[in-house]
Amino acid sequence: MTETLFTNIAQLVTPAPGPQCGAAMRELTVIENAALLVRDGLIVWVGAKKEAPFTPETHDLGGVAVVPGLIDPHTHAVWAGNRLADFEARVAGVPYETILAAGGGIRSSIAATAAATVNQLVALARPRLVALRQSGATTIEVKSGYGMDFDAEVRMLRAAQVLDREFELSPTLLIHVPPTENREDYVRGVCETLIPQVAAETLATAVDVFCEAEAFSVEETRRIFVTAQTHSLRVKVHADQFHAIGGTELACGMNALSVDHLEASGPAQIAALAASGTVATILPGVTLHLGLPAGPGRALIDAGAAVALGTDLNPGSSPVFSMQMALALAVRLNGLTPAEALTAATVNAAAALGLSDRGSLSAGMRADFLALHGPDWRELPYTLGTNPVRDVFVGGVKR
Ligand code: NIG
Ligand code: FE
Repeated sequence: MTETLFTNIAQLVTPAPGPQCGAAMRELTVIENAALLVRDGLIVWVGAKKEAPFTPETHDLGGVAVVPGLIDPHTHAVWAGNRLADFEARVAGVPYETILAAGGGIRSSIAATAAATVNQLVALARPRLVALRQSGATTIEVKSGYGMDFDAEVRMLRAAQVLDREFELSPTLLIHVPPTENREDYVRGVCETLIPQVAAETLATAVDVFCEAEAFSVEETRRIFVTAQTHSLRVKVHADQFHAIGGTELACGMNALSVDHLEASGPAQIAALAASGTVATILPGVTLHLGLPAGPGRALIDAGAAVALGTDLNPGSSPVFSMQMALALAVRLNGLTPAEALTAATVNAAAALGLSDRGSLSAGMRADFLALHGPDWRELPYTLGTNPVRDVFVGGVKR
């Protein structure tokens, strides 16, 4: 047994275990002059230093603020090639969807990624995951989706499996864009071959579909979801990024873990999310990078939804390598308060991954936490362009 008392915490700030919906997202516990007792990777006690139980081993954190480790519930961190030419074209005025429809965009990342080996994918993804972890992300979701070809999709998930030895990852099979020909055969193959293989080899815990005018229809998404659930995989969806075609309503009706993007959501989609147990995940990096409207974070919370936030780290729509930056952007772009943003980036992000053992600094939870550079936790949502996170602890161990 190893037991350490972390002391000299100027301020310990945490949401309660989640998910937290609506106004409850603003309710943080703040303990001044705190201490945190960790045993074998789990939190066993949190409170004021003067009431801390005695333990021989202590770790002085130097009088700074401590918050839960951030959880990034949406990344496409495994890819090859780059989208720098797309970026130049887009800032000159060519829309993202036009580039995709012309065979570029996601399709160009698919060509490069499908040509890479597992080892090459691991080497490309590792520094991206290091950057995310340094920014405070202690659990990171990683999607496939740049493979298209089933072997290439599986190679992406195998790369995530290798990287899971170094990072705490949550792997998702993403059915991203349909092939330009034989689309019906492709969806059938996803249901009859790819999902059964991924489930049998436990290569992913969830299946995600890009439900969009330029990608999969609501009916195709439903078929894929039904198959995933038959194989005991959870489902989640990329919906309402450009057009609200019904993916949100479908997902809420099928007990999806989360609906992600929501930039084009209106009152009907907000109401569906608020009435469901599905988490609404906003991705402010996409708003910044593509110049899209912001996902309605404020309206979702006011309606009573559980809102999470993520980086959506990917080469095309969100080259955001910092979960802290995503949190800071959600306050500026999506109208979240700092407290709501912390809840969205911790317990609610955990819920978006189906995880209930992390995201809150309370007894029984994983000891994933951050020591900031200063004594006030609000540096976390405030800071832009430099990293307010000093140390990242995963399971009580400094990484
Ligand atoms: O979450 N919208 C679809 N998928 C990704 C973008 C992928 C890409 O552009 O390469 C997203 O934004
Ligand atoms: Fe995405």
